[in-house]
Amino acid sequence: MNKMQSPERRIVVLATGGTIAGTAARPGDNVGYVAAQLGADDLVAAVPGLAGTPLETEQVAQVDSKDMSFDIWRRLAERAAHHLARDEVAGIVVTHGTDTLEETGYFLQRVLAPRKPVVLTAAMRPATALLRDGPQNLLDAVAVAREPQAHGVVVVVAGVVWDARELRKTHTYRLDAFGAGDAGWLARVEEGRLRRQRDWPAGEPLGLAFLPVDPAGWPAVEIVTSHAGATGLLVQAARAAGVRGLVVAATGNGSLHTTLEAALREAQSAGIVVWRSSRCLAGAVLPKPDDVFPTAGTLTPAQARVELMLQLLRA
Ligand code: SIN
Repeated sequence: MNKMQSPERRIVVLATGGTIAGTAARPGDNVGYVAAQLGADDLVAAVPGLAGTPLETEQVAQVDSKDMSFDIWRRLAERAAHHLARDEVAGIVVTHGTDTLEETGYFLQRVLAPRKPVVLTAAMRPATALLRDGPQNLLDAVAVAREPQAHGVVVVVAGVVWDARELRKTHTYRLDAFGAGDAGWLARVEEGRLRRQRDWPAGEPLGLAFLPVDPAGWPAVEIVTSHAGATGLLVQAARAAGVRGLVVAATGNGSLHTTLEAALREAQSAGIVVWRSSRCLAGAVLPKPDDVFPTAGTLTPAQARVELMLQLLRA
């Protein structure tokens, strides 16, 4: 941990890896790189605009976010909660991979619902790219974390601030790879200043005490997809493996292939919790009076899985 003393309230940067900390053998290579190579201090040192800003850094993990784990989530939430409780800390920045940003952001908002800002940021290109986006994203994230009115968990990428609960990755390659469906952006960061159009995320925190220390203590919840020619095969396998919940990524407004629906009804009768989300990029699964499976609303399938796991843990 690197501490720089200052009377100004400070920002704590919690690093977890991702492309923002990735390096490639060739500077022009934007896809053939290895994520999670540089440390938190390297990321900060690459941003001249942060010189003089009171910052602390802490390396919480070093992973490609496709490998995000329950263990890292719990540790990240604990470290964030620890620093948020310090008077001298104005806000937190979390550096993360883009691939599971919508899950980690959702998780942190639900467990922490912080009264100070927790700002997740990431990059689509590695730190060795000719036109790398990480340093600007980190600078923007720190600007948001220093905003006196800000609170809740938000995500800052490509100059746009998103409410973490609404975030979804919408592009595989572009620098502006995120969206929030119908909700739209929360704010934009323009030369370090915020242009805000919506409220900061709020809500009651679930807290951390119920999160299992042993990763095996997390309830098994899987995602299955409805599609042409769908079968009940994966649902049956999930049942045999002892899952406690299933989120189905349904078509359109939550419709299901008849064969898959039959298997899901059987799973539900056997005590497995089944929720419907949608494969669509935007819009809620709107409830109907004859619904067999509850809707996950506007949550993406991956976020619905996080919410279902949290609810099962607290049940
Ligand atoms: C990751 O999610 O860690 C790798 C991909 C990325 O950050 O864009």
